[in-house]
Amino acid sequence: MLLSVEGVTKSFGRNTAVENACFTVDRPAMIGIIGRSGAGKSTFLRMMNRLTDATSGEINFEGRNILALQGGDKRAWQAECAMIFQQFNLVPRMDVVSNVLHGTLNRRSTLATMFNLFPQDDIHKAIDILDRLGIAEQAPKRAEALSGGQQQRVAIARALMQDPKIILADEPIASLDPMNAQVVMDALRRIHEEDGRMVIANLHTLDTARRYCDRVIGMRDGRIVFDGTPEQLTTGVARDIYGADASFSEAATSTAIETLDAVPA
Ligand SMILES: Nc1ncnc2c1ncn2[C@@H]1O[C@H](COP(=O)(O)OP(=O)(O)OP(=O)(O)O)[C@@H](O)[C@H]1O
Ligand SMILES: [Mg+2]
Repeated sequence: MLLSVEGVTKSFGRNTAVENACFTVDRPAMIGIIGRSGAGKSTFLRMMNRLTDATSGEINFEGRNILALQGGDKRAWQAECAMIFQQFNLVPRMDVVSNVLHGTLNRRSTLATMFNLFPQDDIHKAIDILDRLGIAEQAPKRAEALSGGQQQRVAIARALMQDPKIILADEPIASLDPMNAQVVMDALRRIHEEDGRMVIANLHTLDTARRYCDRVIGMRDGRIVFDGTPEQLTTGVARDIYGADASFSEAATSTAIETLDAVPA
């Protein structure tokens, strides 16, 4: 088994954010995690990346319990599962290529970092990645001068600099308009398909999860209440995940990427 999540629980005092999460993944899939606000989606990703410690349980990746890693092993794992955030987390006043090169920081000396001394090979690699994401011409600009969709692609490029096996994305398109949302999701899907990297993305809209993911995990009140294919994610199931009443409408959880297809490019 490539990844197995076994009884993972996270409590904050008396509040259980994630309760006994269990699932297995046998190949590098593209997985969407959905659920209403407070369901535990971010907490789960943060435990995978070891930004927060689990209260109990195991996450085995390629046969190692990554929740037990310490020190250098833990940092190596954090490089293997790069994280992307809703707010991009770039350094706004720094140029794009330097932002991307910061994806290599964990393997460079403090001195080299202080003086912004990046190896030539890394600079070329960064430009290649930006080119692949269609934003190479933005490389010399300050990050803050880019659109949201471009900034999120810079964040993806920074993640790719680490050559991660897994990309964890916490609501990567929640701050973007439908057009930029599509560009960013297309980029993640392509990275998944072409590089064979696993992608686990928290998504706040159903249509995006259905359209881009091979598999969808639904969380409600810290528990996994659905785990299946997009086809199995019917309106009835979605209503159950979101805990909505009969007035539940799919439109309320839509990014409207689908409607963009009708518009000529
Ligand atoms: N650092 C923390 N301290 C205390 N409680 C926390 C902390 N982080 C999360 N929680 C609680 O854990 C639960 C799950 O939160 P989490 O952020 O994982 O939900 P989410 O599904 O990502 O929600 P959203 O869609 O709003 O991002 C919530 O009840 C939240 O209040
Ligand atoms: Mg969240």
